[in-house]
Amino acid sequence: MKLASSCRSAAHFMVDRPEASRLRFGLLCGGRRGRDSCGFSGRPHRHYAKANIAVTTFEGGEEMSSSTPEASDEVRRPVLHHVTFRTGRLQEMIDWYGNLVGVRPLFQFEGGAWLTNDAANHRIAFLFAPEIADDPDLRIHSGMHHSAFEYVHLDDLLLTWERLDKQGIKPHFAVDHGLTTSIYYVDPDGNSVELQADNFGDWAASSEFMRSSPYFAKNPIGQPVDPCKMLEARRAGMDAKEVQRRAYAGEFPPEEEYDVRFGKAA
Ligand SMILES: [Fe+2]
Repeated sequence: MKLASSCRSAAHFMVDRPEASRLRFGLLCGGRRGRDSCGFSGRPHRHYAKANIAVTTFEGGEEMSSSTPEASDEVRRPVLHHVTFRTGRLQEMIDWYGNLVGVRPLFQFEGGAWLTNDAANHRIAFLFAPEIADDPDLRIHSGMHHSAFEYVHLDDLLLTWERLDKQGIKPHFAVDHGLTTSIYYVDPDGNSVELQADNFGDWAASSEFMRSSPYFAKNPIGQPVDPCKMLEARRAGMDAKEVQRRAYAGEFPPEEEYDVRFGKAA
């Protein structure tokens, strides 16, 4: 697909393969000669307004709205769905993320794979080409710093750290951000991925902390931690909230300095 220049204001998509797209979306204008009902003349294209209805949540198989879409300048807010990586080592990446967060390919072919660990059709995808190479200057090039996955409870995060540690997979950074406890790993391609647990167990509460806490404003990155010490404290019977509170207070410092993989290496 490419954005049709004549449709930018209406945010229409040109469809290069109308037959395939019709199967996929079923929401194409007819592509007849002359101007159609949306005022665009030319090849078949997809109505973005209709597509916005199509991104309504599908939880529980709910039906999409069948109401007629009125023109609107409202910014419609979709749900963040997945991340797609270019890679030159497809199977290694599939296996690595499968071990990290339990994603499994729903579909895989020689050119890539789509993987999920929940009800979504995919959360991570890989596009493979053998000529894709690692970027030695990734940490000073623009682009994504990390993707992130969230656990419900701190224990899930710490037990994952322990499982990976036994495999020799070490984090490059572990920190109590105040709003989350977060452990970051480097995938085989050099991308960072964060595993986190919300310190409040409540997005509204952690959002409010981020908005209003003077501690966060003073130190928005947070307090580096040693997950091993936090897990030991949990196993000694300390309440998870207390472990997190002490972690944020700096009582579980790492033995060695972490590499946050941002900016020039020291
Ligand atoms: Fe993050």
